[in-house]
Amino acid sequence: MSKYRIALIPGDGIGIPVTDAAMAVVEKVLPGQVETETFPWSCDYYLETGKMMPEDGIETLRSFDAVFLGAVGWPEKVPDSISLHGLLLPIRKSFVQFANIRPHRLLDGVEGPLRKTDFDILCIRENTEGEYSGAGGRVHQRTSDEVAVETSIFTRTGVERILRFGFEQARQRSGCLASVTKSNAQKYSMVFWDEVTQEISAEYPDVEVSQYHIDALAARMVMAPESLDVIVASNLFGDILTDLGAAIQGGLGFAASANINPERNAPSMFEPVHGSAPDIAHLGIANPLAAIWSAAMMLEHLGEAEAAGRIRTAMNKTTAQGFGTVAGKHKTDVIGNAVLAALA
Ligand code: IPM
Ligand code: MN
Repeated sequence: MSKYRIALIPGDGIGIPVTDAAMAVVEKVLPGQVETETFPWSCDYYLETGKMMPEDGIETLRSFDAVFLGAVGWPEKVPDSISLHGLLLPIRKSFVQFANIRPHRLLDGVEGPLRKTDFDILCIRENTEGEYSGAGGRVHQRTSDEVAVETSIFTRTGVERILRFGFEQARQRSGCLASVTKSNAQKYSMVFWDEVTQEISAEYPDVEVSQYHIDALAARMVMAPESLDVIVASNLFGDILTDLGAAIQGGLGFAASANINPERNAPSMFEPVHGSAPDIAHLGIANPLAAIWSAAMMLEHLGEAEAAGRIRTAMNKTTAQGFGTVAGKHKTDVIGNAVLAALA
């Protein structure tokens, strides 16, 4: 009997081939130990059924040990506001995957746009509330009196738990934590976040916490990324900073993520940071390394640290040999096969 049951949601566009590549790597490192079930939930599924996933989709996923998602969205077919709010975002919220972890560092042989290689950043993004709470509405639509309101919601529970998570990660790494807000302009939610940061820091005297404003931190990520280690930020700020993180690590083809439920009372979800990339989806050139790295994070979460480490070593060998380092140069399966060969 296999040890782990994984729900696969390849989704749309390049989500499908990168999920295949990632699962081939998982099978290689843990042969016969991972059973997968694939769910066709996607924009095409929406066009057929009128829903991004069935009514009981969340309940179906709940029994799995983890969810692996490729990418969701195809704005020409279905507006993003429908596809993301019908699948990805409800999974993050329903399973209380409040910590979205995204590592930003260069794989061997990847140059990146900065002339530096010595950075290793871990972004911790709040993943269930804040600017993504979905509280708002529109009135007088399509008139000159139109009003749109969207309110960020920051709860003490939500802010305390993500900050504690950040402090814990910092404690396991360099002992330095950067907490990111915009409290000079946003005087309620962000001042609250800063205050809670100070409160929680009393529980972690061994962690040195620095508080940054998002604009200054964005500049620092480019000018002095080596001065940063663990970063903790709200949902939207973390979203933006992690595309910047992806850029400095060579592009979205390398950026991995884990949506973690630290309580482990529901499955966590693993997905590359990139989207479905409709513009290149038919070319077969999507870099599967972001998905493969995300799969390594999944195995780590499941307690298979050794297997995860083997995948990371194989990824570094692959890029050191030049596979996947230049966007579009190698086909998805060539890069995937190079990782498999490095594991052999
Ligand atoms: C990400 C993505 C999503 C997000 C989108 C697709 C809703 O950009 O995972 O970073 O904003 O969380
Ligand atoms: Mn994003």
